[in-house]
Amino acid sequence: MSPWLSLVLALLVLGNDCSAAPRPRQPTVVVFPGDLRTDLTNKQLAEEYLYRYGYTQVAELSDDKQSLSRALRVLQKRLSLPETGELDSTTLAAMRAPRCGVPDVGRFQTFEGDLKWHHQNLTYWIQNYSEDLPRNVIDDAFARAFAVWSAVTPLTFTRVYGVEADIIIQFGVREHGDGYPFDGKDGLLAHAFPPGQGIQGDAHFDDEELWSLGKGVVVPTFFGNADGAPCHFPFTFEGRNYSACTTDGRSDGQLWCSTTADYDTDRRFGFCPSERLYTEHGNSDGKPCVFPFTFEGRSYSACTTDGRSDGYRWCATTANYDQDKLYGFCPTRVDTTVTGGNSAGELCVFPFVFLGQEYSTCTRDGRTDGRLWCATTSNFDSDKKWGFCPDQGYSLFLVAAHEFGHALGLDHTSVPEALMYPMYSYTEKPPLHEDDVKGIQHLYGGPRPKPEPRPPTTTPETQPTAPPTVCATVRPSEGPTAGPTGPPSPGPTNAPTAGPTGAPTAGPTDSPTRAPTAGPSVAPTESLDPADNVCNVDIFDAIAEIGNYLHLFKDGRYWRFSEAQGRLVQGPFLIRDKWPALPSKLDSVFEEPQSKKIFFFSGRQVWVYTGATVLGPRRLDKLGFGPEVAQVTGALPRGGGKVLLFSRQNFWRFDAKSQMVDPKSASRVDRTFPGVPTNMHDVFLYRDKAYFCQDRYYWRMNLQNGINQVEEVNYVTYDLLQCPEN
Ligand SMILES: *[C@@H]1O[C@H](CO)[C@@H](O)[C@H](O)[C@H]1NC(C)=O
Ligand SMILES: *[C@@H]1O[C@H](CO)[C@@H](O)[C@H](O)[C@H]1NC(C)=O
Ligand SMILES: *[C@@H]1O[C@H](CO)[C@@H](O)[C@H](O)[C@H]1NC(C)=O
Ligand SMILES: [Zn+2]
Ligand SMILES: [Zn+2]
Repeated sequence: MSPWLSLVLALLVLGNDCSAAPRPRQPTVVVFPGDLRTDLTNKQLAEEYLYRYGYTQVAELSDDKQSLSRALRVLQKRLSLPETGELDSTTLAAMRAPRCGVPDVGRFQTFEGDLKWHHQNLTYWIQNYSEDLPRNVIDDAFARAFAVWSAVTPLTFTRVYGVEADIIIQFGVREHGDGYPFDGKDGLLAHAFPPGQGIQGDAHFDDEELWSLGKGVVVPTFFGNADGAPCHFPFTFEGRNYSACTTDGRSDGQLWCSTTADYDTDRRFGFCPSERLYTEHGNSDGKPCVFPFTFEGRSYSACTTDGRSDGYRWCATTANYDQDKLYGFCPTRVDTTVTGGNSAGELCVFPFVFLGQEYSTCTRDGRTDGRLWCATTSNFDSDKKWGFCPDQGYSLFLVAAHEFGHALGLDHTSVPEALMYPMYSYTEKPPLHEDDVKGIQHLYGGPRPKPEPRPPTTTPETQPTAPPTVCATVRPSEGPTAGPTGPPSPGPTNAPTAGPTGAPTAGPTDSPTRAPTAGPSVAPTESLDPADNVCNVDIFDAIAEIGNYLHLFKDGRYWRFSEAQGRLVQGPFLIRDKWPALPSKLDSVFEEPQSKKIFFFSGRQVWVYTGATVLGPRRLDKLGFGPEVAQVTGALPRGGGKVLLFSRQNFWRFDAKSQMVDPKSASRVDRTFPGVPTNMHDVFLYRDKAYFCQDRYYWRMNLQNGINQVEEVNYVTYDLLQCPEN
């Protein structure tokens, strides 16, 4: 037979086959490099599981069939599975299911601890975060998980910022410091220690899991027309399905997503976190990457980990890093970061070629297990680099609620519907089962009866964004009056016309008459009107370091404070005596360190003092601000005549010499300064540290090392000004 004939025959057969049975084309199955199946036998898996979760001791197992069967029966009973004593498929499936790392049996030999807390006002500290979710989503998931338990007990949970917390929460991988290592993706998800001192009561989450709210990655959006709503994956655009943000349909290379399932009908969208929108940390104030950029003589057209040993992706924010040394870190792309395969941690590259076909989204093609995957270079056929696409992830809220149950003293239950069952399962229902409620109330009793409608001394109990009761030391107990969760203090946006209206009782004139010989403990305002005491001010209008003194402005007056002079507070002085052009209500103030010019902001007006000479009021437009900026709420001088100006959630770069903002530099505060409140009312620099104020508190951040991290949250009066606490 000639080769031609056999080809024709084969085609005919194929053709016949297709028409005879209208089956879908047989899928091609591909062997993916690095796609190792677990090489544990079922028996090895079972032995390891039984040991790890407390059902056996190592010695007990040996090769004894009897003891394996006995241990299996105990496990099957504990997990409410059919008690066969065999390694049947139900039991194996249970052993492969994602679960909590706390042993089911005999845990008090392993995780020692007291059975319960002996106080009811518990505190927690979120020590660090996973990159999988925006920080506010993580904060909120934990707050809701605590609320699950406070709703049925007399317990309260207050967020604090420090090791004195009862419950310390952290994300870690593998061995993370306590001798109970995590195991990579899936399997063991988290563990927690029963109540007690030190590590007792703490909850740890495996950061190799994909943390979500249980239904896939959570990607917040920016700008667009959906008001920051998260992306909806998958979504349809021009008839195609997308499981990740895309640049399709745009010529500017910006990533975007639909915030509903169907863009074509709903047309709701936003831009996705990406290095073309902004960078994080670094030294470029959040400016986006510039591509291509040069680093050590090489040209880069994407973020890189080159030059770093920690694996963080970064880019230059000018075309030449070698010359300008300006850089930032690239936002995590949770929607396309792959796991497993042979390039874990890299990003999907769309489109990619697989068996000659182009794919612009993750696919199940080529696999028998139905899992979504993508290539991490543009051609799988030649490069063979791939990984799994993000899955549904595990609900941080549900896993945290379970772990906090342990942190309060609960054990695992064998009721499969209960929150304290050791296996993870996603539900949208309230997670507590009566079995959980019975357990926790056995330890702590039921909720305290709700007090009658209370007079206005509300205590901010268990609000997700409750103010930090920083430092467990005793604080004056009158609650902050205006709850910080209230509307962001009503901006009386429009310019208060100048003029120091309500003149407070005349203060001493400008030159401080108080003798500096007085010891530091002598409060300079002791016998005066309480209104003159700086310690009685709850919220200052503006705070700024001017000429080595911290200046604190409030209602037409100001105080000066110097740590160098034994923490002496001087004042109050009248603003109009020193700076007569100013209104009494200021929004923010800063001194530009080079020129010593002092900028005062109030509503949409700005005044610039050079010594006694004033320029202004001028309108914010003159500085290059658009009409959407109603006020400037803070300023951080950054050297070289550059200043960051803040307005609520955004900030801009300002050049003090040209007195103009760079309108393209608008960035979001939470991106560059993670962990500070978004509704702060003042930002200032003091002794080279940045202070972000909300309500009566400040968040202090060290800006020196490029990694902007909150290092302290405290009261402005007690901790910064050292006011006595009564
Ligand atoms: C969180 O902190 C713990 C303890 O310091 C550390 O082991 C862990 O690596 C940290 N995790 C992250 C994600 O930073
Ligand atoms: C897109 O996804 C939807 C829902 O998963 C599915 O019904 C539809 O067939 C998909 N369309 C395409 C073009 O793949
Ligand atoms: C909790 O309450 C006890 C007793 O009322 C008190 O001594 C302790 O300081 C409180 N702790 C916190 C963190 O509020
Ligand atoms: Zn558990
Ligand atoms: Zn741990």
